[in-house]
Amino acid sequence: MTAVGIDAIEIRTGRLKLDLPGTFAPAQGEDPEKYTKGLGLNASSFPDSYEDIVTMGANAAHRLMERKGLTPEDVGRIDVATESAFDNSKPVSTYVAGCLEQVFDGDFHHANKGERKFACVAATQAVDDAYNWIRAGRSRGKAAIVIATDTALYARDDPGEATQGAGAVAMLITEDPNLVEISAEQGYGSADETDFLKPQQQFPSVDGKRSMQVYLARMREAVEDFESVAGATHPDDYAYIPYHTPFPGMVRKAGLLGYRHMIRDTSVEDDLADEIGRQPRREAFDDDEAYEEAIREYVDALAETEHYQEWYAATVEPTLEISREVGNWYTGSVHIARASALRDAYEKDVDLEGQRMLVGSYGSGAQAEVHAETVREGWREEVEAMNVDEQLDRRYELSFEEYEEIHDAHNHDVDSDVEELTTPDSEFVFDGWGRMGERQ
Ligand code: CAA
Repeated sequence: MTAVGIDAIEIRTGRLKLDLPGTFAPAQGEDPEKYTKGLGLNASSFPDSYEDIVTMGANAAHRLMERKGLTPEDVGRIDVATESAFDNSKPVSTYVAGCLEQVFDGDFHHANKGERKFACVAATQAVDDAYNWIRAGRSRGKAAIVIATDTALYARDDPGEATQGAGAVAMLITEDPNLVEISAEQGYGSADETDFLKPQQQFPSVDGKRSMQVYLARMREAVEDFESVAGATHPDDYAYIPYHTPFPGMVRKAGLLGYRHMIRDTSVEDDLADEIGRQPRREAFDDDEAYEEAIREYVDALAETEHYQEWYAATVEPTLEISREVGNWYTGSVHIARASALRDAYEKDVDLEGQRMLVGSYGSGAQAEVHAETVREGWREEVEAMNVDEQLDRRYELSFEEYEEIHDAHNHDVDSDVEELTTPDSEFVFDGWGRMGERQ
């Protein structure tokens, strides 16, 4: 069977940056280490006043098509995943296609377009849709573009405010891909949850602590479901494990949970038994409470072992490096984590071809999906072409007063007319409804 997967990735960050320890923490009267050590974040990306989900998505897709030498005729499908849509009927992909048609010869009239919604897991679902479309033989040899784009903003003074971010990730899905092949096997953990909602409102209503528990519960189910089709996982099977990253502190918890699950009944558990004992088994306890207490103690001890810390530093930590500098991009977040992992291998000159990654996507509401990816021969060339570091470095750093103004500029309930803080450096800018597109 021909490989199907991600051929290329382009990332587009919002042009503004909010320094969390230096600017946000003093204004909030918080200890800077709450953000850097607790949440694991240094900065957030924000959109300038001329950026929105369409412009960021279109700019990412434009660079992707240009770099890969594609015309609209080569693309048979454009899906946008977002939690920040402004229209319940017309999909964001039509706006993006409209922008792209202004700069490429030809049009996308032949292309199937849609918008995927399931909180942050939606872009992974859109990649799955493109994968299935190609596998089903419906692509007529054309590629699919999947765009994850969000302005992940919270109401001012919401506990989520520190985790904000804005940006887009555009992915090209093809046969015989350059970057990664996606496995046919997937695992799901899905349940009706109300921890994070946006019912006809711009900013989310979040039960933050509950949302963390739901993330971990669904992720555990998804790993178990994945194992039921792909066989038992082992921590050494994967070069990297990119997780959905609302903030790196969340992934610290997910990484430990995943590791505990993966070492069960393996030689790793045997090796650690002298040091910290074996994992508690439910049948050895009279009630759930005693069992859960024993698990907590085991997990705390496991986190302190050298074995776990070395594994985490090599397999999970490198996936968080971009996220630390940009915050939560909702639908794009797990795809930034993958990019961060690949960039790490590139910088360390690791021979990654043929190695596997386990990708843990998650969306509130709630659903986790786990699948494996195998790194392809052309991965270096693709990573080299990404200009994410350059984009991060040239962001404009906001003062707290500017941050307050720009937050208002993106708040649909506030009448605001804020000047641009940066000079547009790309094709598409937001000029007001109905006038979105190429800058004159
Ligand atoms: N030094 C070091 N660490 C500190 C510290 C300090 N001075 N002060 C606090 N911390 C630590 C805390 O101990 C805590 O770490 P642990 O969880 O490991 O104990 C961490 O920093 C955060 O501190 P708080 O729990 O006090 O922070 P908070 O309550 O103000 O906010 C939050 C945390 C509730 C997660 C909030 O950021 C939030 O609501 N975020 C939005 C929801 C979210 O991202 N949920 C994640 C799962 S849902 C999902 O993934 C979907 C999605 O994208 C939204």
